[in-house]
Amino acid sequence: SLASTVQQRLADALSAALPEAGMADPSPRPSGWGDPMLRRSDRADFQANGILALAKKLKGNPRELAVKVVDAIPANDVVKDIEVSGPGFLNITITDKAITETLAARAADDRLGVPFAADAGTTVIDYAQPNVAKEMHVGHLRSAVIGDAMVQILEFTGEKVVRRHHIGDWGTQFGMLIQYLIEHPHELDHKEGDAAPEVSGEEAMSNLNRLYKASRALFDSDEEFKERARRRVVDLQSGDEQTLALWQRFVDESKIYFYSVFEKLDMEIRDPDIVGESGYNDMLDETCRILEESGVAVRSEGALCVFFDDVKGPDGNPVPLIVKKSNGGYGYAATDLSAIRNRVQTLDANTLLYVVDARQSLHFKMVFETARRAGWLNEKVKAHQLAFGTVLGKDGKPFKTREGETVRLVDLLDEAIDRATAVVREKAEKVGLTEQEIVENGRYVGIGAVKYADLSTSAVRDYKFDLDQMVSLNGDTSVYLQYAYARIQSIKRKAGDRSPLAHPELPLAPAERALGLHLDQFGEVLAEVASSYEPHKLAAYLYQLASHLTTFYDQCHVLSADNAPEVVENRLFLVDVTGRTLHRGMALLGIRTPERL
Ligand code: ARG
Repeated sequence: SLASTVQQRLADALSAALPEAGMADPSPRPSGWGDPMLRRSDRADFQANGILALAKKLKGNPRELAVKVVDAIPANDVVKDIEVSGPGFLNITITDKAITETLAARAADDRLGVPFAADAGTTVIDYAQPNVAKEMHVGHLRSAVIGDAMVQILEFTGEKVVRRHHIGDWGTQFGMLIQYLIEHPHELDHKEGDAAPEVSGEEAMSNLNRLYKASRALFDSDEEFKERARRRVVDLQSGDEQTLALWQRFVDESKIYFYSVFEKLDMEIRDPDIVGESGYNDMLDETCRILEESGVAVRSEGALCVFFDDVKGPDGNPVPLIVKKSNGGYGYAATDLSAIRNRVQTLDANTLLYVVDARQSLHFKMVFETARRAGWLNEKVKAHQLAFGTVLGKDGKPFKTREGETVRLVDLLDEAIDRATAVVREKAEKVGLTEQEIVENGRYVGIGAVKYADLSTSAVRDYKFDLDQMVSLNGDTSVYLQYAYARIQSIKRKAGDRSPLAHPELPLAPAERALGLHLDQFGEVLAEVASSYEPHKLAAYLYQLASHLTTFYDQCHVLSADNAPEVVENRLFLVDVTGRTLHRGMALLGIRTPERL
């Protein structure tokens, strides 16, 4: 089939040889000898170690069985050489023809032959969830960047993805903010006299900041204001119209800011997908009633609680998940439990994925377990927290400004773009970039650098936010990958009327084989990344791809006049598939690949 890879063709050939060797696998798997028994290897192209397990099942001698399988492998187009090694491993060398021909079949497909997942379902992904009336910080960056990559990757594998931005738009702090606005009615007004009062994201946030600080100061110093603010919370919760209208203004103003940041991040966030905490208000009562009636939650000291055997405080006493406080108020947990009901029962999700800071892991552990006890999660509907670590400063401590304040995300992004633009400008003359291209590429390189740094380490690990390293042209950075792509495009332009064309009959140089076999793995890597929620493995794959390409350039001249025309065409073909793979892979990570850099 179109989607078949060298590795699959090899697995099929090996499976076919088993009965021939007098060993039918007693429990054959549909994929025959697929992963994990077939691996890329340094000794040959692949190593198969499945014979060991099979011999155990058949109670035979693995080495003898291995020899039988080798004898039974027919001389074919895929296997060039196969030998038994060690206790019963097979070392296999693939024919050059199989590499080129398989790649050519995949290249004919727009998806590069990557198959859709056989077991696709619906995933609701909870990511990019900033808080209303508050600045966005690096934690929100991580959720947005990792979440967006997972959205793209899952959709590419055929999964139906529903995006949910669970923004923090509810809570007692709104009593204080709204009360302050009532008493200072013009504080959120936009420039008067403007025909169409357009505020920038920056302005919106600075308005909100000013209001937040002023109302907080009053709240902390003026007991009577504090009391009025408390009563305002009650008005808000009981749905008082004027209060709700003012609350909506805070949400709208914040959204102007959020959208400006997401746009800077080159990320598409759609309005209907923003369903904040307030979106589940109508469900809270019922959620609590169901939990209480089913006995999942119990009354304890006036609060409605869920207890867990393995969650205890430092004093050894159990720490419950509080679903409803003793004063009747609902918190973060009641909202998350209601959101689960909505996502499972209304959105028909099979998987709930939460891209949230690892510091909230205990919360999610308790929420998921509660949902399981209530029957909302089960064998068919699973929840998973894609937990991420903390962003650290260069000093290895949580990222703060010199004054000890949290670093504003926009400032970081602007600095990344500035640095990147300087890097792009340095080479611009040689490439002949226009000023407009320099500015545009500066954005793509700067934002790409920030995203890649985040995506190229395992999410759960902390990482250092180091702009010098991020925009470096050498090493595992996005700009290194972007240059690899731009160089490919430049070679294609220089090739003129010589077009990429696969010639499976041509022998391949070692660097060509290595590049070809790495390209062969793209689909397999994507499938693994999609099921394990580990985008850093895609980043690592792309970096290795660019490294193989560099070796290939060193050892194999593409457009050299000494090359026979079909060698030029075949090398252009390899370069072209590499470019398309880089482009696709980077796009799945949310990173642009400029044509000229
Ligand atoms: N707004 C929260 C924060 O800034 C993250 C929300 C995570 N999602 C959820 N369903 N609880 O920390």
